[in-house]
Amino acid sequence: MDAAGNLRGTYPAARQNAPRLLIGSHLDTVPNAGAYDGILGVILAVALLEELRGRRLPFSIEVVGFSEEEGVRFGTPFIGSRVLVGRLDEELLDLQDAQGVSVRRAIEKFGLNPAELPQAELENDTLCYLEFHIEQGPVLARLNQPLAAVEAIAGQSRMEFTFVGRANHAGTTPMDLRCDAIAGAAEWIGAVERAAQSVPGLVATIGKVEAKPGAANVIVAEARLTLDVRHGSDDMRTRAVDNLIRQAKEIAARRGLSVHESTLLSQRAVTMDPFLTAEIERAIVESGCKPHRMVSGAGHDAMILAEKVPAAMIFLRTPGGISHDPAESVAVEDVEKALECGMHLLDQLASSPEFQKRMNRA
Ligand code: HGY
Ligand code: MN
Ligand code: MN
Repeated sequence: MDAAGNLRGTYPAARQNAPRLLIGSHLDTVPNAGAYDGILGVILAVALLEELRGRRLPFSIEVVGFSEEEGVRFGTPFIGSRVLVGRLDEELLDLQDAQGVSVRRAIEKFGLNPAELPQAELENDTLCYLEFHIEQGPVLARLNQPLAAVEAIAGQSRMEFTFVGRANHAGTTPMDLRCDAIAGAAEWIGAVERAAQSVPGLVATIGKVEAKPGAANVIVAEARLTLDVRHGSDDMRTRAVDNLIRQAKEIAARRGLSVHESTLLSQRAVTMDPFLTAEIERAIVESGCKPHRMVSGAGHDAMILAEKVPAAMIFLRTPGGISHDPAESVAVEDVEKALECGMHLLDQLASSPEFQKRMNRA
């Protein structure tokens, strides 16, 4: 366990001081989640090592289970993987959860030492990062295919909007004398949905709404909402965010409210390593499956690792296309296919001249 609570273990190479290949995913998930988002990728990595049955490769394999990827507790995601790329800065360590516990304090309360975070950074002999993950969407189920190679991961913005009005008595305050924060927020929520529906490939989600003081007979003084905006193009995403901020301010002004927003995350879209993606596609075919490439609408630790090392992902079909919900599922045959694909991939990389060149450079 490293200083950020990431679980890490290394399967040795055939020779000493060989470079390493990283395979992993995240251990955490969302409230009322399914059983596969994240953890399946960690278990598949361990199963791959078991499948090697002691056979050594020209590179070692480090399995990593990231401690925090979803961003549920502190509002900002990818805390575990940011440590590996050296991006867990002071500002992030000071972020607090709903109980006022900071990331730094949470690390200490877990029995770890934030001062040791630098030791958790990637070794410079890391060749690449591979991640198995459920697709979490409907595409592979619709194609009736078990696996896909991920060619890019959509960028995402995560923000908090706070509409401020004036509390007052629900019974005595005429409608035209109200500054109702949640009525303003509700009008904006409709505008968010219409904006996202009008731009192909854009998705926008209001996941959490809090109303204060939160009594049935009091007009809401403060409405706090989260906004999650994603698109394959960073330009389209940032333009959509700017438009939604503008609309929030216009609605607030018209209703005698104030509104302020804070950005918790602005993560650019990331392309996966073309060589590794092609090798994954080859391994999918070797496993007797039809190849398919796709963009991931979900964010993944691979987009953080990609800042430092070549990264690539293998998607498994999500029957029913449901995720972040107990209905999330995988087919055992697809997990078997993913293992078979993983074994082909390791053997391909072990004998690949291009990968050999990367090993010599590491
Ligand atoms: O929200 C996401 O993109 C992923 O589930 N972390
Ligand atoms: Mn998730
Ligand atoms: Mn995930």
